[in-house]
Amino acid sequence: MREVAIVAAGMTRFGELWESSLRDLFAEAASEALTSAKADRLDSIYVGNMAAGQFVGQEHLGPLMADHLGMAGVASVRVECACASGGAALRSAFLEVASGASDLVLAAGVEKMTDGADATEVLATAADQELEAYHGITFPGLYAMIARAHAKAHGTTDEDMAWVSVKNHKHGALNPKAQFRREVTVAEVLGSSMVADPLRLLQCSPVSDGAAAVLLCPLDQAKKYTDRPVKIRASVLATSTMALADRKDPSFLDAVKLSADRAYKAADLKPSDVHVVEVHDCFAIAEICCIEALGLVEVGKGRHAAREGLTALGGKIPVNTSGGLKSKGHPVGATGIAQAIEIFEQLRGEAGARQVKNARIGLAQNMGGSGASSVVHILERV
Ligand code: COA
Repeated sequence: MREVAIVAAGMTRFGELWESSLRDLFAEAASEALTSAKADRLDSIYVGNMAAGQFVGQEHLGPLMADHLGMAGVASVRVECACASGGAALRSAFLEVASGASDLVLAAGVEKMTDGADATEVLATAADQELEAYHGITFPGLYAMIARAHAKAHGTTDEDMAWVSVKNHKHGALNPKAQFRREVTVAEVLGSSMVADPLRLLQCSPVSDGAAAVLLCPLDQAKKYTDRPVKIRASVLATSTMALADRKDPSFLDAVKLSADRAYKAADLKPSDVHVVEVHDCFAIAEICCIEALGLVEVGKGRHAAREGLTALGGKIPVNTSGGLKSKGHPVGATGIAQAIEIFEQLRGEAGARQVKNARIGLAQNMGGSGASSVVHILERV
């Protein structure tokens, strides 16, 4: 296998972007990445997308996006892995370059969620239909059950979860691409409307539009495109049971642990070697569970991390410096790529007010469903 680098990135603003179509969002992010690398050709494109067929009635995204980019003829295919579609697309691109099959591959994620479809219903198609969705459960409901299980096992309180939102909104306020650029207080979070008990509005990621793209090539060709390549040290996908009820411990995200353990092994690193992290905080409780499963904190101690400043900018292990899904937004197919872009920019020293000093190794963790799939990428400044 060849060593692989990310050499360029592009990303739209996240939010309710009614003025842009699905294909325009994709093209904006992809063109920014291609322009930054001064690349006018591609060998292949992977489009991360969860549900354009349901959100905007559009399937067959591979050729559509290649064509709209002016690259009809290039190999191009959609990758679907629910909210981890972006991470899975990045992994597909990584494998294609690592294998030697292609030298210049675009991994781009896109989702347009605000065009009128019932987002809650569309998102619920990523749950187990026979065991969960047909009975009325939604993703806020599934994560509320995870929160209850975590509270029972470890004493996690509503206030612990509120601190995750406070931290991520604080980070997101510094991110010009974020959907919500305003800080919130613990009192505001705990006073916001109940969505699925115990999860409140300000403990949920929003419904968003947006796109994000990265360009990959073999590390030994990276200097053609940039003087600051970022190496992909590991790219791993793992799965768990689809239905939450089938997990031995619903408060522990075992696919996240599996993907992380395999990624640390592949990169020959341990959790304490990582300087900056993006995790899949689709709901505040998810960030607490993810940092535990990634081994960044002990299991059961995740609830203290945001409150104590451990995971804040300036803390020992900054988590979700982009604002996370909570504040930056969560256009589901784009999220995994956007997470990788935050790490890419951090490692290149381009994160501006959000910069983590001397960050050399970063990790991005992207999740599908209630944790049925998890993708981990470990990146390193070269
Ligand atoms: N965080 C902060 N503010 C939010 C928000 C969020 N998650 N979602 C909406 N808002 C704001 C809106 O901007 C709007 O503000 P305004 O009145 O100042 O314009 C207000 O709250 C009402 O927005 P609306 O779109 O009517 O909210 P809603 O009640 O329809 O949706 C949720 C709120 C939480 C139900 C929705 O965002 C949601 O379903 N989130 C979860 C998405 C999800 O499941 N993703 C997959 C994860 S696995």
